Amino acid sequence: IVGPLESKPWPKTCQNCGAARHSVNCAASHFQIQVASTMSKANLFYAQSGGVTAVINASACGVIETARKHKDKIGKVYAGLNGIVGALHEELIDTNKESAKTIAALRSTPAGAFGSCRYKLKSYAENKREYERLIEVFKAHNIRYFLYNGGGDSQDTANKFAQLSVEKGYPINCIGVPKTVDNDLPITDNCPGFGSVAKYVAVSIREAGLDVASMCASSTKVFVMEVMGRHAGWIAGAAGLAAEQDGDAPHIILFPEIAFNREKFLKKVKSCVKKHGYCAIVVSEGVQNPDGSFLAEAGGKDAFGHAQLGGVAPFIAEMVKEELGYKYHWAVADYLQRAARHIASRTDVEQAYAVGAAAVEFALAGKTAVMPAIIRGKGKKYSWKIGEAKLADVANVEKMLPRSYISRDGFSITEEARQYFAPLVQGEDYPEYKNGLPQYARLKKVLEKKKLKAWRG
Ligand code: F6P
Repeated sequence: IVGPLESKPWPKTCQNCGAARHSVNCAASHFQIQVASTMSKANLFYAQSGGVTAVINASACGVIETARKHKDKIGKVYAGLNGIVGALHEELIDTNKESAKTIAALRSTPAGAFGSCRYKLKSYAENKREYERLIEVFKAHNIRYFLYNGGGDSQDTANKFAQLSVEKGYPINCIGVPKTVDNDLPITDNCPGFGSVAKYVAVSIREAGLDVASMCASSTKVFVMEVMGRHAGWIAGAAGLAAEQDGDAPHIILFPEIAFNREKFLKKVKSCVKKHGYCAIVVSEGVQNPDGSFLAEAGGKDAFGHAQLGGVAPFIAEMVKEELGYKYHWAVADYLQRAARHIASRTDVEQAYAVGAAAVEFALAGKTAVMPAIIRGKGKKYSWKIGEAKLADVANVEKMLPRSYISRDGFSITEEARQYFAPLVQGEDYPEYKNGLPQYARLKKVLEKKKLKAWRG
């Protein structure tokens, strides 16, 4: 549209729409169309970012399988060894070296098969070298498509990079691929990874609840299960699906959205034990005191400045023991919940695959700075389709559990929440089992030959 790729310097404005070259909203898309249509074949770079999930590899599978269907436009699919850090160090895994069978097995393999990272790219003003290095690496390996599979922070990085690559005259089609067990990305109805954690925690509290019920007459009366989710109570809320009838576990859910009230909580535990003989509690790692401090922090902060959470379950259990004298057990679901591929939600697996596949199609259509989003149908029967969200609208926004999803007393979920959560945990998608254990993909992870000097960032 704006002239052959080789014509440098590129025009300052798009000849199609007249918008400034660095305006990603409009002009960049035209530039990208030009790039895609005038280039012989370009390579694609895919990176996993942030906390992994049971289905992030299903997205990788969607990306790679779809790219392989477009051999005329996409040469190699590179995956970053340990995410974007792999791009900085020019450690690019050549996924073309993996067999179709191995790539297919990614669909049912948990965690991040290529390695993920908690690494924040600073702003361009703060650290130009990192961005310039990325462009240098992408240029050296003819990479024109960048798919970043992560949460809010990663979408922010992809957005910044999309704009910068245009400004630097080497436009990259940057597409975000949503992922996070925390389910806190805006616009998309839910985030791949969440449905499977939701299923795991609901199943776990139902099963553990039955255990405590059997013991409570003479032994354990309280069970506390801690779940992830950071500042948002989506995972904790989903555990509430397990309680279908009065008396079912969980009896109490502690949400980050509701300030912890010690007296009210202890009163509720006591009345629950009196009524049912036991009390099963789900506590979100992000539960806060009225002053906004976390009830329990594991200590330390990650590269994004997020406090490392964890350890609130023993804290709560001990509080119950001290005040009410009940024998307790507690569990911190921790990585078990987000790695539990054996009990993944089929809906989640399908959606994770679909966003990966859609991201490739978006890139080939010349789009940039966008993310495939899951759009829920309006009908009574659950349906979903893939829509499109601008990265600028997704970046760095945390979507909290709505107040209308939490009961008036703040300890359980409402019918509205149940309707939201229920479809997301539907269906099973068991991995292949051998000798009684799930079989997961084992990748060769062959690195592309380096062309540049070592990165000393
Ligand atoms: O953001 C996803 C998440 O699983 C959070 O729920 C949790 O607090 C965090 O990651 C843990 O991060 P890490 O694995 O880096 O300690």
